[in-house]
Amino acid sequence: MNWWKNVVVYQIYPKSFKDTNNDGIGDLKGIEEKIPYLNQLGVGAIWISPFFLSPMVDNGYDVQDYKKINPIFGTMEDFDNLKKTCDKYNIKIIVDFVANHTSDKHEWFQKALKNEEKYKDYYVFTKDPIWEKKSVFGGEAWEKINNDEYYLHSFAVNQPDLNWENPNVRKEFKEIMNFWIDKGIGGVRFDVIDDIGKNLDRDLIKKGIYIDIEKLHSFVKEWRNESKWNQEDLLTVGESWDSSTDKAILYTNPERKELAMVFGFEHIMSNWNNKPKWEADKLDLAKYKKIISKWQKEIHNNGWLALFMSNHDLPRMISNFGDEKYRIESGKSLALVLHMLQGTPFVYQGEEIGMLNCKFNNLEEHDDIEIHQMYESIKKENDDYTKEKHLQYVAKMNRDNARTPMQWNKDLNAGFTNGKPWLKINENYKEINVEDALKDSNSLFYWYQKLINFRKDLTNPISNVIINGDFELIDSENEKIFAYKRQYNNEELIVISNWSSDKVEFKFNKENIILNNYDYINDNLLEPWQSILIFIKK
Ligand code: GLC
Ligand code: CA
Repeated sequence: MNWWKNVVVYQIYPKSFKDTNNDGIGDLKGIEEKIPYLNQLGVGAIWISPFFLSPMVDNGYDVQDYKKINPIFGTMEDFDNLKKTCDKYNIKIIVDFVANHTSDKHEWFQKALKNEEKYKDYYVFTKDPIWEKKSVFGGEAWEKINNDEYYLHSFAVNQPDLNWENPNVRKEFKEIMNFWIDKGIGGVRFDVIDDIGKNLDRDLIKKGIYIDIEKLHSFVKEWRNESKWNQEDLLTVGESWDSSTDKAILYTNPERKELAMVFGFEHIMSNWNNKPKWEADKLDLAKYKKIISKWQKEIHNNGWLALFMSNHDLPRMISNFGDEKYRIESGKSLALVLHMLQGTPFVYQGEEIGMLNCKFNNLEEHDDIEIHQMYESIKKENDDYTKEKHLQYVAKMNRDNARTPMQWNKDLNAGFTNGKPWLKINENYKEINVEDALKDSNSLFYWYQKLINFRKDLTNPISNVIINGDFELIDSENEKIFAYKRQYNNEELIVISNWSSDKVEFKFNKENIILNNYDYINDNLLEPWQSILIFIKK
């Protein structure tokens, strides 16, 4: 069995995890310091968002040199030490490759701007931009460099898109892969991987078709086959906003030799209803469950999934899908539903202690380029748009919610730094922090620890069901209860979870309950956000 099928991955946003030199920015030494904590939680791998040399316009997703460590995060020696400590605890390191674009400060782009033929062809320059293609962060995706030439930037102006049709670009990334494999990484997360296969065709883009599936998969295959990746069992995970179940199978069916797993976003976007994410509707649970069910069933023996409800681009999970008033109960319910599915669960830093969205008092308190670029682009179209309106507009879905520093304890700056933190600390840190969670045996932390161990401990028959079992929703139309059954050979796992803040009647058998997030259970009646796990050996 692939090692990544029974582990849980913990995502670290390095800037916000733990600062050790008091410059207000998290660093690699800080990650190393907290490896014993992550080991206690039970995770088998950490995915660290980009820590490569970068001007940090998009917090590291704008890479200036893929083989150098950003000095604000430390040195290559710090990375090697982190690796040694991880080895001691058998925790693998997953690095984050941004292959769709570089920073505009990257040497390749600088040379391209100087009209060096070779490097110009590394990027997408044109005299005839397809204006229908917009930037994901709002506004135009084309930037003029001289009188008649433009370059493509799917994200910020400082993130020029690479031209993957150029074999030299592909060769560079094979070398980058080999470099990091030699450093001993356990896997790679591929940023916006769909985007490397581009369809630069006006008619198709007008129809909303931008990704070229064939090109995309041939690039991924070549990358794997023609680098050291080919000889390693890496945990490779693609970020795939474009993916449907069919597409996820193309990426992850083992026979195709591409990626180990993908992050699909259909469940995340289920309540956006084709509007901008800022205007998302309330969660429609019946719809959400159908999406989860479709992915579980269709991928089942045909590929593998990365399971997640939050990351550095999404709101905090409890604020998004749960209820802050039932913080612990709803956090436990969301986690239980996710962790009993087939796939590899990802826990985003702070999720294991129930961190929440943050209240920002003005736009100046915000860091994220997306918020600021979006403001400029709306303002351009709309004269009476104000900063206050924008603050409201982005409050729930903005990415800074997930990026406020990790809350370690009740001390100054939540124990994140003794300096001035780069982004505001959530004011609730005195109630929500790691130190308190570790002292309370009923905390979310210990609930996550149990869930992680169920999957990890292969001597426990539950693990087999979680890894291999099939999936069936129970009462699929129910708008308040998320219930499902996993079955493998003669064993059955049943999850019954109240995803509402009401008491809800539901029929179930009280025998064989192995987990309950309340300390009692009524007959056929669930308390707000109450969840139980049942395990039956036939
Ligand atoms: C991905 C990253 C996000 C980044 C974007 C551009 O979606 O997760 O943080 O802004 O790609 O690189
Ligand atoms: Ca630091």
